[in-house]
Amino acid sequence: MRAADISGDLDRVLVTEEEIHAKLRELAAQVEKDYEGKKLLLVGVLKGAVMVMADFMRCLNREVVMDWMAVSSYGSSTKSSGVVQIRKDLDTDLGGYHVLIVEDIIDSGLTLSWLLSNFASRGAESIEVLALLRKPDAAKVEIDCRYLGFDIPNEFVVGYGLDYAEHYRNLRDVAVLAPHVYA
Ligand code: XMP
Ligand code: MG
Repeated sequence: MRAADISGDLDRVLVTEEEIHAKLRELAAQVEKDYEGKKLLLVGVLKGAVMVMADFMRCLNREVVMDWMAVSSYGSSTKSSGVVQIRKDLDTDLGGYHVLIVEDIIDSGLTLSWLLSNFASRGAESIEVLALLRKPDAAKVEIDCRYLGFDIPNEFVVGYGLDYAEHYRNLRDVAVLAPHVYA
């Protein structure tokens, strides 16, 4: 669905599907160059990164493998709890791989900071982060994000995989949720 289909639930659109696709093509070209001749494993963080992963990996004009990790730090609220739980671990042994973690959004940074230290001891050749969105004003820990889509204001957003209580993931654009929806 597009923003117009649920305009009553949204405050405004921040990033359109077209802008996202253009950015992912740019990032893919950069990744192709940086990882030339290297074994690349993309690790998506469920469920929010589903759309980014699907679109980003199809922009890559090279061989790549994919795995998923499911963690939770949010429940159905709009604030990070800081407590990260593994719901589904990787199926892949990271040994020999250059790992690129694919995330929807860096908000407080707590989830990725936890993931990065969890991955550190698993034998990967390198570990980098690609995130579609980042909220610089919400950072509680700094995350070194090599491939970034867009910096956005510190407001709760939905769409393009991002949810509020599992809703709005199929919105094609990224939009700010109207406060009356979660008030
Ligand atoms: P942290 O705060 O740990 O957040 O960087 C990471 C995870 O929390 C979710 N998240 C959001 N989901 N709208 C959403 O729909 C948001 O504005 C938002 N901020 C954080 C997301 O799953 C992310 O991976
Ligand atoms: Mg996520």
